[in-house]
Amino acid sequence: MKAESSRGEWSSKIGFILAAAGSAIGLGSIWRFPYITGQSGGAVFVLVYLFLVFTIGISLMMAEIVIGKKGRLNAVGSFRRLGGKHWGLVGWIGVIAAFVILSYYGVIGGWTMAYVLKSFTGLISTSGSGEVAKIFEAFISDGKQMLFYQGLFMAATVIVVFRGVSGGIERLCTFCMPALFILMILLIGRALTLPGAMEGVVFFLKPDFSKLSGEVVLSAMGQAFFSLSLGIGAMVIYGSYLPDKTDIPKASLQICFLTFMISLMAGLIIFPSLFAFGMEPGAGAGLTFITLPVVFAKMPGGVLWAASFFVLFFFAALTSSVSLLEVVVSYMIDSLGWDRKKATILLGVLISVVGIPSALSQGAVTINVFGVSFLDAADFFASNLLMPAGGFLTAVFIGWVAYSAGFDGITGGGAVPFRHKKLWMFILRFIAPVCILVIFIAGLKW
Ligand code: PHE
Repeated sequence: MKAESSRGEWSSKIGFILAAAGSAIGLGSIWRFPYITGQSGGAVFVLVYLFLVFTIGISLMMAEIVIGKKGRLNAVGSFRRLGGKHWGLVGWIGVIAAFVILSYYGVIGGWTMAYVLKSFTGLISTSGSGEVAKIFEAFISDGKQMLFYQGLFMAATVIVVFRGVSGGIERLCTFCMPALFILMILLIGRALTLPGAMEGVVFFLKPDFSKLSGEVVLSAMGQAFFSLSLGIGAMVIYGSYLPDKTDIPKASLQICFLTFMISLMAGLIIFPSLFAFGMEPGAGAGLTFITLPVVFAKMPGGVLWAASFFVLFFFAALTSSVSLLEVVVSYMIDSLGWDRKKATILLGVLISVVGIPSALSQGAVTINVFGVSFLDAADFFASNLLMPAGGFLTAVFIGWVAYSAGFDGITGGGAVPFRHKKLWMFILRFIAPVCILVIFIAGLKW
């Protein structure tokens, strides 16, 4: 075990919030949220997601950050230090989930990089939505391009993680997040003024409760975990670099709010445009990539808007993939005493190799598992099963086992006031475990 002083620490409070929000905001909000919303009936899904983010999501985020702050180690080590050896299992679920998620995250991350280049090569001038969809199809069924861009994205992730937490990650977030925010607001303006846009707003924001089902709720839970980076120990790690006197509830609220906002904004760009162009909301994993180029084409200087957007989208994905790799790498550093460089490169390569079937499963080769593509299956397994399982155990851990460490950590030993301790504990003890179990049972139709 390494001495605490050899671990990095955030250079400022805002550095932590940016990095944690950077981990949260990524493909989850801009790629996954719109397409799962489209497949899950629209506004009803959004409503359940909203509810889960601000009840279970925020409570678990606080729990994870506290575990890191008190444990001062990676997820496995922090759980062990606070709860004894067998609790390390929770951290392990996280390490496995991070491994699986990153394997396909790299594939979609690669799409964002490819689209930066494609912005300049005809994607934007072909304004017909059918054309754009064809370009996308051709792209994802080209195995060579898939592997090339996946490798490129993974290489970028490795380089940032290589340089350590505060050095690489903090700096990356400081510029990109505000820029992304501003650009997305402009895009909302464009999307909402397209003829026929209102129908999309209705689909996205006016709930049709007849579409509510166990499956929809399970997907919303998976999306809440995925988008907030919960249940896999990512926030444990970021918390482990926190100075003692941090207002964790406030930071968590800010992170949840920002993530929800970006998701909402992504939806307000994609659904109005989709309906305006007569496209299908249930189109699946390509939704963002098929819709946005058509919107850009309707803007003066569209090529530049598109390229800037995809650059920022890429950075948003990168600040998330970095935290996924960090989950796995920091375990190897803390527990097995590996050197950071060795761990980063080795794991980066290994995860990329494991991601190859996902990369090829989008059309290059038919690789189906349980009737869905390999990528979708890996995503379902990690987001809807592993992450909520990790979250369930985290809630039980702080709610029933290590609650005094939880109280002490959340108030910085009494230095930070927190008025809602009882509510927080109630959610962790009862609401979160029960809801997660019920949603599992209803969603999987046991
Ligand atoms: N929250 C990230 C996103 O939305 C994905 C992620 C999940 C990152 C878990 C870290 C841990 O893109």
